[in-house]
Amino acid sequence: MAKSVILNALDIGTSSVKMMVGQKDFATGDVTLLGQAQAPCFGVRKGEVVNPQQVAEAIVKVKEHLQKSGVGKIKKVLVNIGGPHLYSLTSQGLVSVSRADQKISQEDIQRVLQASQALNLPSNKEILDVFAKEFVVDGEEGIEDPLGLEGIRLEAKVLLSCVFSPVLESLDEAIEEAGLEIEENGIIPSPLASSRACLTAQQKELGVGVVDIGAGSTSVAFFEERKLLNFAVFPLGSANITNDIAIGLRTEISTAERIKKEFATLNTTKKKKKLTKIEIPEKNLAFSAKFLKDIVEARVSEIFSEVQRELKKISKQKLLPAGIILTGGGTQLPGIVEFAKRKLKLPCHLGFPKNIQGVEDLTFSTCAGLLLTGFDLKEQRGERPIGSEVGSKLKKIFKMFLP
Ligand SMILES: Nc1ncnc2c1ncn2[C@@H]1O[C@H](COP(=O)(O)OP(=O)(O)OP(=O)(O)O)[C@@H](O)[C@H]1O
Ligand SMILES: [Mg+2]
Repeated sequence: MAKSVILNALDIGTSSVKMMVGQKDFATGDVTLLGQAQAPCFGVRKGEVVNPQQVAEAIVKVKEHLQKSGVGKIKKVLVNIGGPHLYSLTSQGLVSVSRADQKISQEDIQRVLQASQALNLPSNKEILDVFAKEFVVDGEEGIEDPLGLEGIRLEAKVLLSCVFSPVLESLDEAIEEAGLEIEENGIIPSPLASSRACLTAQQKELGVGVVDIGAGSTSVAFFEERKLLNFAVFPLGSANITNDIAIGLRTEISTAERIKKEFATLNTTKKKKKLTKIEIPEKNLAFSAKFLKDIVEARVSEIFSEVQRELKKISKQKLLPAGIILTGGGTQLPGIVEFAKRKLKLPCHLGFPKNIQGVEDLTFSTCAGLLLTGFDLKEQRGERPIGSEVGSKLKKIFKMFLP
């Protein structure tokens, strides 16, 4: 395997398209950022590509900007898929171990993972990825890697990521229209990309969740004992706060966005401050800080109620020792960490992308995670080549075993 590899990551977001070019030196493990760019994006609604042509225009902008900056020609990308039509399903499979000596082989693992995907999905839904939660060998549960173990019955408990096919088709179309190709296995669910960037192996071992609040969607993923418990994307984000401000103050979206960034806060104000007036003379606007806070708080509260609902689905309310890591552009709202703590009754922190030198912006978490996942995949291919027709799925599962 080459000592160093350069990859390109593309995060197609509701408010903007972000791209990063990074280089990993496999000898030292260091990942260096060679370039990053961002451009406003139209044609994405609630995290899903709805107008591929418009999205392609934004992609071309960031691509050309980066190429001009000297990162070399960008041809292939790792890309995220998000939006409410991306969902997870739990499933399981069962096979008999095939070898005479009853030692579990790669083929057995592949067969059991295939068996776990034998579902009756409607024709417009497809399985994107499969993540092994655990293997069971002759009734012995909790096995991470059954390769080489002896047994007769091999079961796999898995989490499948599934998507409504038209969403995937629109994404493909946008990439193609922009003159790019997708890396092998290079479509990564947004919540998993953000997790890869912001969570540590230790947090994943203890039990942790990531909450990425974007403009049009919020992506969540939860881990325990290093395994993915569940993930989800719901169609609520920081743009909803902007829209509420626009309606509440009867002003245009651009003014509401400015007000959100300049004045919105969830910090608890002292009594006197409740009377603080905010004035924007050029827009003929005057309102109390309390009025703005009430608008913002109602929407943020709704977002965390959704997070709570997802925690409830996996019975982990108040039960993740490493807490919740907040990331994404929407988490730049002052006071949101304290608010999340109160609402979820869990430790909460802001999560910045880790492990890439020179990245300190939480709007780039998904993008950074795509890049890191891309390097993981490359590394696994080099270390553990799997030459079979279901190899692609298997490689992704091994990815989840990495600390
Ligand atoms: N200082 C700030 N305070 C509050 N919100 C902010 C601030 N800065 C940016 N935002 C909000 O963050 C959002 C953009 O975040 P991000 O780039 O993570 O979203 P996205 O990836 O485009 O969308 P999505 O992930 O939902 O598809 C916008 O709604 C923007 O208003
Ligand atoms: Mg995003």
